[in-house]
Amino acid sequence: MIGRDLLGIERLERAEIERILDTAEHMREIGTREVKKVPTLRGRTIVNLFFESSTRTRASFEIAGKRLSADVINFSPSTSSLKKAESILDTARTLDAMDPDAVVVRHAEAGVPQRIADVLAAPVINAGDGAHEHPTQALLDLLTVRQEKGCIDGLTVTIVGDILHSRVARSNIYAFRKLGAEVRIAAPPPMIPCAIEALGVKAYTSLREALEGADVVMALRIQNERLAGAYFPSTREYSATFGIDRAKLRFAKDDAIVMHPGPVNRGVELAHDLADHRPGVILDQVRNGVAIRMAVLYLFAGRQPAEAAR
Ligand code: NCD
Repeated sequence: MIGRDLLGIERLERAEIERILDTAEHMREIGTREVKKVPTLRGRTIVNLFFESSTRTRASFEIAGKRLSADVINFSPSTSSLKKAESILDTARTLDAMDPDAVVVRHAEAGVPQRIADVLAAPVINAGDGAHEHPTQALLDLLTVRQEKGCIDGLTVTIVGDILHSRVARSNIYAFRKLGAEVRIAAPPPMIPCAIEALGVKAYTSLREALEGADVVMALRIQNERLAGAYFPSTREYSATFGIDRAKLRFAKDDAIVMHPGPVNRGVELAHDLADHRPGVILDQVRNGVAIRMAVLYLFAGRQPAEAAR
């Protein structure tokens, strides 16, 4: 039922998403044991190929692989020596010749995981490509919301911030829509991609309106590295109008939770206390990230070679 690569949420069916979430629930239990290791992927090799920097995502793929007893190799080529697509594909082919069971790829350019998947024998898992998709982040966000709210159907999810440059926003829009939530986005006009409403979301430039009746408030990081000198209001102006703090949260439902994929610009998109305390659930997201990546590695790297054949 599950495809061979995990390149984005856009291509997943609802049933596939639910299967990954259900598998992750079992994986989460393993993380609560004294010995947090099972032999499920013993003898399998996972390559983490990160062309762009990462803390949480890379560490959690590594921990996830190790908890399943896989051998995990981290490979972080410097992007400067590997700018050309050809050399990226050569690197991928070189690693592929070592017969890994899955390759996890992050790259600053949209579409690179797909191009690598086109030439590799091993399944490819997208760990974030440019402003395109970040599927495992959306899956861990779904898992966190399901844990908090029981189910996703019928919830109102408001995503606030730099939607234009955010792969997390894109993957989460697909993910929450597929599971039956209403998704709203709120941002200053230059940070709202044109035609975003075609994805089935409603766009707001008033945070107050976007928050009314929200069950989930997701703040996003200002992607300074992708702004390239563009149209950003000052940090102070942004945090005054779109930064989430307890006062603005009063517009949302009383039991609304606050999420952020990290890293947080504290005091800009999110107030300090919400980064650390409920209704902020940021560390639960990180914890669920390990469970989701265990589930993804199990489902995509754990197949028999014949099953995984292209
Ligand atoms: C996100 C990313 O890299 O896209 N972070 C993450 O994976 N936890 C979000 C971000 O960098 O703002």
